[in-house]
This record gives sequence, structure tokens and C-alpha cells, in this order.
Amino acid sequence: MNRKVTVVGGAGNVGATVARSIAQRELADVVVIDIAGTKAAGVALDIYESCPIEGSASRVVGVGVEDFAESANSDVVVITSGVPRKPGMSRDDLLQVNYKIMQDVTAQIVKHSPNCIIVPVANPLDAMSQAVYRLSGFPRERVIGMAGVLDSARMRAFIAMELNVSVENVSAFVLGGHGDTMVPLPRYSTVAGIPITELLSKERIDAICERTANGGAEITKLIGTSAWYAPGASAAQMVEAILKDQKKILPCSVFLQGEYGIRDLFVGVPVKLGAGGVEQIIEITLTDEETAALKKSAGAVKELVDVIKV
Ligand code: LAC
Repeated sequence: MNRKVTVVGGAGNVGATVARSIAQRELADVVVIDIAGTKAAGVALDIYESCPIEGSASRVVGVGVEDFAESANSDVVVITSGVPRKPGMSRDDLLQVNYKIMQDVTAQIVKHSPNCIIVPVANPLDAMSQAVYRLSGFPRERVIGMAGVLDSARMRAFIAMELNVSVENVSAFVLGGHGDTMVPLPRYSTVAGIPITELLSKERIDAICERTANGGAEITKLIGTSAWYAPGASAAQMVEAILKDQKKILPCSVFLQGEYGIRDLFVGVPVKLGAGGVEQIIEITLTDEETAALKKSAGAVKELVDVIKV
């Protein structure tokens, strides 16, 4: 195929899910890279062997980090490398160890695919995205953190469960950092175009917002490690929007420069994703309360980026 996507950390649960989703939808050829090189080769081979059944012409290969050159000239590189959460751990607990990994990985990506778009997925998401942005020297349009799509998908699922309607009818918006302070926006969350504030009591909406903010921890507690199906699907949707130049509006973590009154910081906001990466940052009107919540969430991200000085 004439498109190439590399998934770094692709032998892990999230990475393998992203790689499989891209191959299954025949979006691009896929290179799976992992520190566990043999496992990367095995995961890639398994995915490739599914392609004749799925009806996809994507080619899938897997290599160790010593063969990073295999990724050369990728259109998009998704970074799923990093240590996942264990029950009881916050995403922030992963800061130092995953920052070190971002340093190694970003240098390789820039060397082999200087024109790619990077989608960081490692936690703590916003701080790791900012680290990758600074380390890469790429323009802000080409470093786009995955978090809002996942958090919104969780909120959509909870709203659909509550009202017993199709998830496809439900649209939800979650802004802010990918952490406990994230900002679900009920006023902008709708079922077939109807704001949920018209359909549900304040108590039920508050419960849905709280469950959304704790959505990652809920899965981690149930499984014993962090989630992968919904995170993987979220990253794949971003890759699809970029490769197909869909101009899709999705909440993503991007480097704000004054938008929403926030400067020099990665925070989740609605953006238009297309072939150029972030093609527009959409500024929606927020109430004072929503603005205060977004500022608080940005403050939590700032604390982390200050620790690693990025
Ligand atoms: C989650 C982790 C991946 O939210 O951040 O599931």
C-alpha cells in the first residue's frame, strides 16, 4: 500500500490493538516495533495472517527496536510504548519511567520519519505528548495526543447504558487532561442531537461524569492492568482521520498557544484532524464553571510537565 503506519510498543496490548485495527480496515501497511523484538514479529505475523480472512491488503511486519529503520518514512507513528498502570496506580505514577522511554523512541522516530505525524498514547498522556513535542522539534500540528476520543467514548457508552439507546446515537465531549481532573461537558453531549441535560437528572449526569473520569481506573481494577480495546480503537480512529483527510472533529491533546486562555501546554480540546494533522483548534463557549474546571485540569498537567521540565 502507499501508506505506512508504525506502532512503537506494538507488541503490547494497546499497540497490538492499534496495529490490528489499522490492518483490518486496510488503512496502511503497518510496522510493529517493540523492545520485545521476537514478540513484535509474532504479533505482526499473527495480524498479517488475519488479513486474508478480513479481506485486507495491508502488509504487516514486526521488528525489534534495533531495526527501527524498518519504520522509515512512515506517514503516522503511534507511540504506545511505556509501562501500563497496575491497580491503585495513577497515570501520573508513570511519569519518570515513561519519559525516559519517550526520549529514546522520539529520537528514533525523528531520525527515520522526519515528516510523520506522531500520535502519543503513553501515560501520563498530556505530559508525555508535551515531552514528545519538545523532543521532536516538530510543529504542533504534527504531535497529537490520544485521550479525548477514549474518554468521550467511555462517556458515550455510559450515556447509552443509562438511556438504553444505541451508542451510535450518542455524542459526548470530554476536555482537559487525561486524568482525574478531566472535564466531561454534559451541555455538549447529546443523544440524537438532544443535549443530555434535557434527558437526565443532574444526579445521573454527575454520576456519568464521575464514572467517565474514573473510566481507566475502573477497567484497571477489573482486569489487573490498564485497558486496551477502547484505547486502541481511539488511536486507530485518529490515524484514519489523518490518513483519509477526513477533517473529523475529535477531542485530542494538543499544544495550546492561547486557545481557551491556556498557553504552552498540551491539554485536550476539540480539533479538526486531517492530512495535515491538527488543521484547526475549535474554541467552544464555556460557562464560568466549565472554564474553571478546564483551568484546574490544565494546572494538573502543568505540575507534571514542570517535573520533567518539558
Ligand atoms: C485508560 C488508560 C489507558 O484510560 O489511560 O484506560
